[in-house]
Amino acid sequence: MGILTRWGRANTVAPPGTGRPWREASFSKQLNPQYTPGSDDYVQAESAVASATVSRNSALSTWPQAEALPPEAVAFSPSPRSIVLVGMPGCGKSSIGKRLAARLDLPFLDADTEIEAAAGLPITEIFSRYGEPHFRDGERRVIARLLAGPPLVLATGGGAFTDARTRAAVRESGALAVWLRCTLPVLLRRVAGRDHRPMFLNRDPREVLERLMVARHPTFAEAQVIVDCTDEPPETTTKRVMDALAVHRDPARLKVRLSERSYDIVVGDGLLERAGALMAPVLPARRAVVVTDSSVAPLHLPALRAGLEQAGITLVATVEVPPGEASKSFAQLEKVVEAALAAGADRRTAVVALGGGVVGDLAGFAAAVALRGLPFIQVPTTLLAQVDSSVGGKTGINLGLGKNLVGAFHQPLLVLADTTVLATLPPRELRAGYAEVAKHGLLQGALWDWCEAEGARAVAGDPAALAHAVLESCRLKSGVVAADEREESAEGGRALLNLGHTFGHAFEAECGYGGTLLHGEAVAVGLGLAASLSARLGFCSQELPGRVIAHLQACGLPARIGDLPRSFSAERLMTRMRKDKKVRDGAMRFVLLRGPGDAFTTSEVPPAAVMSLLRDEGAAA
Ligand SMILES: NC(=O)c1ccc[n+]([C@@H]2O[C@H](COP(=O)([O-])OP(=O)(O)OC[C@H]3O[C@@H](n4cnc5c(N)ncnc54)[C@H](O)[C@@H]3O)[C@@H](O)[C@H]2O)c1
Repeated sequence: MGILTRWGRANTVAPPGTGRPWREASFSKQLNPQYTPGSDDYVQAESAVASATVSRNSALSTWPQAEALPPEAVAFSPSPRSIVLVGMPGCGKSSIGKRLAARLDLPFLDADTEIEAAAGLPITEIFSRYGEPHFRDGERRVIARLLAGPPLVLATGGGAFTDARTRAAVRESGALAVWLRCTLPVLLRRVAGRDHRPMFLNRDPREVLERLMVARHPTFAEAQVIVDCTDEPPETTTKRVMDALAVHRDPARLKVRLSERSYDIVVGDGLLERAGALMAPVLPARRAVVVTDSSVAPLHLPALRAGLEQAGITLVATVEVPPGEASKSFAQLEKVVEAALAAGADRRTAVVALGGGVVGDLAGFAAAVALRGLPFIQVPTTLLAQVDSSVGGKTGINLGLGKNLVGAFHQPLLVLADTTVLATLPPRELRAGYAEVAKHGLLQGALWDWCEAEGARAVAGDPAALAHAVLESCRLKSGVVAADEREESAEGGRALLNLGHTFGHAFEAECGYGGTLLHGEAVAVGLGLAASLSARLGFCSQELPGRVIAHLQACGLPARIGDLPRSFSAERLMTRMRKDKKVRDGAMRFVLLRGPGDAFTTSEVPPAAVMSLLRDEGAAA
């Protein structure tokens, strides 16, 4: 059987005489003594995606939960994973790989050797007879096949990781890719006079290596672990690889399931530095326009820029808007779209929003309308944006008539929630974002228990508590969005996320949008009122409003009208609520609670009950 036939075959091929697909048989000599060199090897890797158990509650029981991909904070050691070494020729993949395998007590394999065995031909021969695309196809299948078996250390050929499908196969296998990064002088010293690979024959090694580095480094940057290698002995480098593996933690990933618009939310620390590597797999082209605001730019744009550059993503333009709600305007929309197009953005250029909800809403809307739709990525930098606005695809700007009245659903390709950036957020903004976490807690149930027990730590800036708040909020929101993307459910669905918002929007509108009352602060007061209204109407226990109010106040948030620094007219608040976007057929819509984890939407709240609540809570008549 010729190699073309063998590499071109469908992916469950039984080795001759066994009747078994290779999927069942181990591939390598080391892993399977029955392995026959030159046999077929075409089983594609299956996604080794782990699923996590997710707690559910009665209100949300009909919603599909967000799928948890590789589990949160996956430590390298107790459950060994395969290690895939990538890097330039001469970087030491084989010598380090063998030592690493010995230390980890895993088998070591060299992908090139395995490919030659599978093909029954030397690699140079495969290249010359069948060409590179054919070789890469077979290489990917062999690598995927090896990684589908028990954990091992695998050294790959220098070009393997440049193939997007091979990188995807490595990622999906759950293996950890390690880039052994060398500088040009180190590589030159290593290959000088000692390397007889065809690529160096009769060529200037410097010229060859420089060219390869430009082409390959951006793809090597997609490895999860990067270790800089010097002229030190291989044992020393191996030790440093071990150290890097020991501290490596995968960021948490959730999938928002929206069929062809599905995307991942990645939550972790230090993600900006890795932004390019994390984005590259979902980008149609390595080009981006970053939209940010002038407060966030000096703090976090350098790290994002470096992260993009490392993965070879060209920053076509950077657009800075003034911080604050006023930037959700037609004027700023025009500025963003014009700057992007003037800089040469095309339909494969991604818009990246680096900032809070204002930047996310504005940049997302710009991405939705420019050239009838550009790819979009959210890099939220406020707690509110990480737990709420970056997920779900609502984008838009404001009119004089009201907030978010012009907009579009435009789902991102990816959300990168780097919890490190929350360290620079002003405490008041952090507290305001926490109101949305408490809202998610009340919707979800178990998360509310966590809020009461641990929420104060999040508000105080504790990184682990913040990471938990972001992850669990995103888990809740992504499940809701997946079930009711466009808020079309007659009852419940995405509208439940408006808990506290009918009241909240009225207070926000009364205060104007200049920062007197932040969105989250208005939501906190709205949560207190929604719980009180639920108790008055007999839906929940009389004790719940007190718990909700006490928790929010303990977190430094206003939770009652009396906590706000100005007075309000109940009549004016009622007028605002009657004009709210959520009004259906002229009736105000509220989200009420039967208890934590049990919320429902209703249009049947008597206006007199709302009016008397507002008055009793301190609003003037
Ligand atoms: N699309 C949705 O689903 C959705 C949901 C909720 C809210 N929103 C919208 O979100 C907006 C509010 O978002 P927000 O609360 O993030 O406000 P914001 O974007 O105005 O950010 C708040 C302030 O924090 C600054 N900032 C942001 N990140 C920072 C950081 N890491 N360090 C220091 N400063 C930082 C900003 O410059 C700004 O001054 C509103 O317009 C609201 O309508 C949208």
